[in-house]
Amino acid sequence: MSKIGDLKLKGEVFLAPMADYTNIAYRTLAKEYGVALVYTELISAKGLLMKNKRTEKMLQVSEKEKPIFLQLFGSNPLDFANAIKIVEKKYPNNFAGFDLNAGCSVPKAIKGKYGCALMKDALNVGQIISSMKSSTNKPISIKMRLGWSEENFLDVAREAVLSGVDAITLHPRLGVEGYRGKANWGKIKELKKEFKSKVKIIGNGDLSQPRDIVLMKEKTNCDFEMVGRSAIGNAFFFKQANCALSGKKIPLRNFVEQKKEIEKFFELVEEFNLGPNDVRPYCIGFVRGLVGAPSLRNKIGMSKTISEMKKIIQEYFLNYS
Ligand SMILES: Cc1cc2nc3c(=O)[nH]c(=O)nc-3n(C[C@H](O)[C@H](O)[C@H](O)COP(=O)(O)O)c2cc1C
Repeated sequence: MSKIGDLKLKGEVFLAPMADYTNIAYRTLAKEYGVALVYTELISAKGLLMKNKRTEKMLQVSEKEKPIFLQLFGSNPLDFANAIKIVEKKYPNNFAGFDLNAGCSVPKAIKGKYGCALMKDALNVGQIISSMKSSTNKPISIKMRLGWSEENFLDVAREAVLSGVDAITLHPRLGVEGYRGKANWGKIKELKKEFKSKVKIIGNGDLSQPRDIVLMKEKTNCDFEMVGRSAIGNAFFFKQANCALSGKKIPLRNFVEQKKEIEKFFELVEEFNLGPNDVRPYCIGFVRGLVGAPSLRNKIGMSKTISEMKKIIQEYFLNYS
């Protein structure tokens, strides 16, 4: 069984943290389809200290989705230690570990000196990791890119490892590249080669097909694989990925499976009492690739309630089945 720190994991395919997409309902759904580890979307360390209401809501976790890591963003090392202490005191059993966001490349993050901006200062990253480690015995991980405008991921990783980080996720693009070009899996291989068994390496980027999980593992020797955009509106991807990894036949994502998945999703939305804005992104992702997707997307985009979204999708299945 694979481990991060002392945390045992039943599998090796993870769901990437994705703001507005990886809410409690979707994470729980992904778990039903075999994901090994999920993350909250990025949460402000400072926001936690200020007891911001929206931030607090993001700490909601279901028993069924565990284990889950809480991903934090910020830049001041002390904020991280204090944020983790608050979370651990209030919700000691919610999170299995904590992740540092050093990859977010949106202008707001760079202006605020967090996310991928952290890649500009390897020493500060080391201090943040030490600060996080000082407030919990749970595993600490970091999610990074190759650098901001110049590649320096090995320097940042060295500082993180010296400070005791347990796992490193690499999305192998520079911050300034956004999502342009191809994720350079060769850099994941370099990272694994440099640290061998000192730290767990999580490969991320452009895992578009279930078979890509196997390819990434073979090409990079990474310990875990993390899926982002391909899993938007498609939790079935995790079932397919696990089959690919264990050499089993990859099941087809047919109409019956799609219908089953969306029904489960709406049940979870009700269970966790979510609102339309929590549901819309998943639904828009879900209809991707279906016949008539553009018109379905428009209708979902314009709908104001969850029941409207549900009706649009139910009618689609009635007409096409
Ligand atoms: C809509 C969206 C939201 C994202 N939000 C986060 C986030 O909150 N934290 C983070 O570390 N990365 C975030 N990412 C980056 C993903 O976790 C991942 O690193 C990236 O999408 C590359 O993986 P992929 O090619 O499998 O999508 C986000 C990506 C997308 C598309």
